[in-house]
Amino acid sequence: MSTHNVWTHKGTFLLAAVGSAVGLGNLWRFPYLTGENGGGAFILIYALTIFAVGIPILIAEIMLGRNSRRSPIMGMRFLTSTHKTSRGWETIGWLGAASAFIILSFYSVIAGWALHYTGLMLTGSLDGADAETIGASFDALLASPPLLTLYHTLFIGASALIVGLGIHRGIENGLRVLMPALFVILMVVLVYSAAIGDLSAAATFLFTFNVADLSLEGWLQAMGQSFFTLSLGMGAIMAYGAYMSSDASLTRTAFAIAVVDTAVAMIAGLAIFALVFGAGLDPGEGPGLMFVTLPLAFAEMPAGPLLGGVFFILVLGAAISSSISLIEPVAAFLVERFDLERPQAVSAMVIASWALGLLTVFSFNLMAEDTLFHTLFGRSAFGLLELLTNIFMPLGGMLIALFAGWALTHGEVMKEMRTNESWFRLWRFLVRFIAPAAVAFVFLRTIPQVEGYLLPSIGAVVIVGAFAAGRTFLAERQES
Ligand code: TRP
Repeated sequence: MSTHNVWTHKGTFLLAAVGSAVGLGNLWRFPYLTGENGGGAFILIYALTIFAVGIPILIAEIMLGRNSRRSPIMGMRFLTSTHKTSRGWETIGWLGAASAFIILSFYSVIAGWALHYTGLMLTGSLDGADAETIGASFDALLASPPLLTLYHTLFIGASALIVGLGIHRGIENGLRVLMPALFVILMVVLVYSAAIGDLSAAATFLFTFNVADLSLEGWLQAMGQSFFTLSLGMGAIMAYGAYMSSDASLTRTAFAIAVVDTAVAMIAGLAIFALVFGAGLDPGEGPGLMFVTLPLAFAEMPAGPLLGGVFFILVLGAAISSSISLIEPVAAFLVERFDLERPQAVSAMVIASWALGLLTVFSFNLMAEDTLFHTLFGRSAFGLLELLTNIFMPLGGMLIALFAGWALTHGEVMKEMRTNESWFRLWRFLVRFIAPAAVAFVFLRTIPQVEGYLLPSIGAVVIVGAFAAGRTFLAERQES
């Protein structure tokens, strides 16, 4: 056994996983990407991947963590040796570490904006302001590298402190209050947005679709977002799974995470787009969407500054409970592999990620347009980092699905899932074939040239994947 211990309460895993899943991804990223990609079609792809691909992979990822009881990289090393498979599967751990490092870098910058808005709300600076004033104040924030860097540093520092001191497991009690409170305030915001905005336009925008409207990169973004919002495919859930008690139900837990997470995103989306259409704002505004719309509702409400302040504090809480899950897997690896002390491991990870975060800071001002970077990559540095995670996370998820589907034995899976044989069969079919094929489909879909060869290509990918994985399957058969 490794050095990990098991969480004391059965429900803690669920709480920690929901804490990881619900965050800026739901409140900030989901609405802004949906707005940029024209609404309904984006949501359709997003929702399909959550339920057909996300949940089975969620189960698979928790399973790998709980079975190995190690941090992701060491866990995969352990599993490849106990299952006599190629060490290549360790890629899951390495890809995950790379994603964690990249996501944390920009996540912290955006969470820094929420810090700024907490101040604006509590001081009443935006009380009674109109859309134009609020927009101008946001632009002023983005134009200031020192301010953005300060907030970025404060947020990432606070997250590091929590993980470094090892008190993140004690955050349990905080989350028990924070999550319901966030939910209640979101409902209040929704009611106000409906009153002063245009809820039916928002609903039409979000829930009617024409798949042909979705750009090729939109497909990738929708799938990437469904992984991002569930904290999936990069080891965070695996690291938490390693601490999960052996008798909590995987299937029920995975469903609960997905349902709560999706509900929060939908409520935030409805509220934000009601305000967008009510105030005649642009749904494709980009990353600032949440920050130029929600303050509008708080500007109108009675006790708006107070409620707004509390709201942004809760957003920060939700963001911190997510950012600690980005630090944990990499820090746990450094501790296990190099025998570092916990604070050292956390510092190493966070300092590197902080530095990378400066790229995101500058991509809103110094490097905003017409720089060499834009010419080379056709997008901002922040855009490039997001694109990388949109590729890494589904890829990691696909490998997780294949490994769990093909390499784990029937007995191991049953021991983890504790369901009946038909649920097991359904799950295994999904992770062996459907999830990998869906990810392959979206990847191939984003390459325009392959349009005509799409179905045959997916077939080829699945057959090659299944064949490669089949070798482990045979090894397993011989043993039993
Ligand atoms: N899921 C979080 C959110 O929606 C972000 C996040 C936290 C995350 N941990 C992660 C994303 C691990 C991917 C992987 O805000």
